[in-house]
Amino acid sequence: MKTRAKPVWRLVLSFIALRSCAAFYLPGLAPVSFCEEGTSGDECQSTIQLFVNRLDSVESVLPYEYDVFDFCQDAEEKRPSENLGQVLFGERIETSPYKFNFNKNLTCEKVCTRTYDISAKDDKKKLDFLKSGMQLNYQHHWIIDNMPVTWCYNSAFNKKNMYYLFNHVDIMITYHSGATEGWKGARLVGATLEPKSIKHEDENKLTCDGPPMEIPNEFTSNTKVTYSYSVKFVVSLWFTLMCAFGDILLGNDQVNGLSQEESGWKQVHGDVFRPPRKGMLLSVFLGQGTQIFIMTFTTLFLACLGFLSPANRGALMTCAVVLWVLLGTPAGYVSARLYKTFGGEKWKTNVLLTALLCPGIVFADFFLMNLILWVEGSSAAIPFGTLVAILALWFGISMPLTFIGAYFGFKKPQPVRTNQIPRQIPEQSFFTKPIPGIIMGGILPFGCIFIQLFFILNSIWSHQMYYMFGFLFLVFIILLITCSEATILLCYFHLCAEDYHWWWRSFLTSGFTAVYLFIYAVHYFFSKLQIVGAASTILYFGYTMIMVLIFFLFTGEWRTKYSPSTYGIVLSEFHIAWP
Ligand SMILES: *[C@@H]1O[C@H](CO)[C@@H](O)[C@H](O)[C@H]1NC(C)=O
Repeated sequence: MKTRAKPVWRLVLSFIALRSCAAFYLPGLAPVSFCEEGTSGDECQSTIQLFVNRLDSVESVLPYEYDVFDFCQDAEEKRPSENLGQVLFGERIETSPYKFNFNKNLTCEKVCTRTYDISAKDDKKKLDFLKSGMQLNYQHHWIIDNMPVTWCYNSAFNKKNMYYLFNHVDIMITYHSGATEGWKGARLVGATLEPKSIKHEDENKLTCDGPPMEIPNEFTSNTKVTYSYSVKFVVSLWFTLMCAFGDILLGNDQVNGLSQEESGWKQVHGDVFRPPRKGMLLSVFLGQGTQIFIMTFTTLFLACLGFLSPANRGALMTCAVVLWVLLGTPAGYVSARLYKTFGGEKWKTNVLLTALLCPGIVFADFFLMNLILWVEGSSAAIPFGTLVAILALWFGISMPLTFIGAYFGFKKPQPVRTNQIPRQIPEQSFFTKPIPGIIMGGILPFGCIFIQLFFILNSIWSHQMYYMFGFLFLVFIILLITCSEATILLCYFHLCAEDYHWWWRSFLTSGFTAVYLFIYAVHYFFSKLQIVGAASTILYFGYTMIMVLIFFLFTGEWRTKYSPSTYGIVLSEFHIAWP
C-alpha cells in the first residue's frame, strides 16, 4: 500500500448540460417543471431528488456502487428504471439522502454521522475501504433532474499520511424561470457542486466552519464523520441572455412559437420548394460549384497524401486543371437536374451557360492579365500556344462532358410539388431579413480559414513554399462543416420566420465567405506587399478575382445543392430534436 497521502477524491466531471430555451429539448427528455413548496400542483413539483450513480476511477477498472462505500444511505432507497444501455455500462443509479425543495436555500444541513470504533473489526474494514477508494481517486457521479452534476474542487490540503474526506458538499443549482415567458414554474439548467472537507465539532449543531476532516493513515483512535450539505438556487443569467438573444433574432413570438405545432416552418411546408427567381443562374452556379468542389477536394486529398510535391507548384495546378476538365459531367448533371426542379425548359441555354459562364469569366480575366504581362514583357506570361491548348481542353473535352451530364440530369423527373398560391411572407425582423442573415452567415466559415489564408497568400505572392497540405485539408473539411452549419441554422431561422425564399439565400449565406476573402486579400495587399506600379496592382486583383469567384462558387454550392436536404435535415433532425 502506498504511504503517500492522497488529497481526497479527485472529483472531476465533464459537464455538457446545455439545455436551452423553452422550446429546445433533447429527445426523450420531457422537461420537468419545478416550483416552490406549497405552490406545486400537477404541472410542477417541488421536491428535487438527487440521484447517485456508481463511483469509478481512472486508476482502476472496477466501478463500485455508491452503497458499497460507507456513505450516508437513503432510508427509503429507490432505483429509477434504467435502460439497457445504462445497465450494460454498469450504471447503478439510486436515490440519495440529499433532499431539498426547489428554491429553498439550505445551509449546513446534516445528513448523517458515521462512527468508527477501533474495537470493532468491521469498522476498520469499512474505513480501510474508504481510504483505498480515496487513494485510487474514485469519483462520484451525481445526477439532478437527468443532468450530471459538475464537481468543482480544489485540493488545497496535503499533509503526509493523512486522508482528507470530503464530507460536505455545497450544491448550486441554476434554473430558468418561466415567469417571464408565461409558463408556471422553473426548469433546472445546471448543477454544480463543491465538495469540502470540514471537521464538525458538534454533530447536532453544525456550523460548517471547522478545520478539514482528517483521517490518519493509522487507525488508532475512534473516528467520527458527519456528512453535511448546503444548497443554493440561482437564476441562470446565461440562459436569460440566450433567450434575449433569441428574442432579438426571431422576435419574441417566434421563440415561443417554435414549440407550438402550427407555427413557423410547418406552415411554409407547401411553399418551401417553390422555384426561386433567376433559377437558371442559380442552377448554373450550383453546377459549376460542384465541379470546383470535387476538383478542390480531390486535389487537396492527393496533395495531402503526398502525390503532389509541394516543391513543384506546377503539379498542383496541372492536377487541378485536368480534374476540372474531366469533371464537366457532374456539373452538367447537377445544373440540369436543379434547373428541371425549378421547372425550367430552356435546357440548351442551361447547358451552354454551365459550360461557359464561369470558366468564361475566369478565362477572360486571365487573358487580360496575360495581355498586361505580354506588354510588360514578363517571363510569367503564358505562351500563346498554352492558351490555345487550354481552350482546346475546355471546348474539346469539358464541354462535351457537360452535355453528357446534362442529358442524364434532364431525364430525372421533376420531384416536388408546391401549393398553387404562394403564401404571404410576414413582416421580418431585422435579423431575419435576407441581407443581415447573409452577412452574418459568412463570418463563421471565414473565421476558420482566416489563419491558413495568410500562409496561402504568402505562398502565392511572396513565393514562400507551402507544404502543410495535411493541415490545409483539415481546414478545408472544417470549412465545409462550418458552411453547412451556418447555412442550416440560418435556413432554419428563416423557415421559422415563415420565409420560404431559401434557395438563393442558402447559396449566398456561405458564398458570402468569398466577400470576406476579398476584403482580406485587399488588406493583405496594402499591409504585406510592397507592390508598385499599375500593372502589378491589376495583376494582383485579377488573380484575386479568380480566387474569389472560385471560392464563391465552391462555398455557396457546398450547402445549397443539398439544401432540399438542408430542408430535409431541418424537417427531420431539427423537428425531432426540438419538438
Ligand atoms: C438563495 O441564494 C442565492 C444566492 O445567495 C440568492 O440569490 C437567492 O435569492 C436565494 N434564494 C432564496 C429563495 O432565498
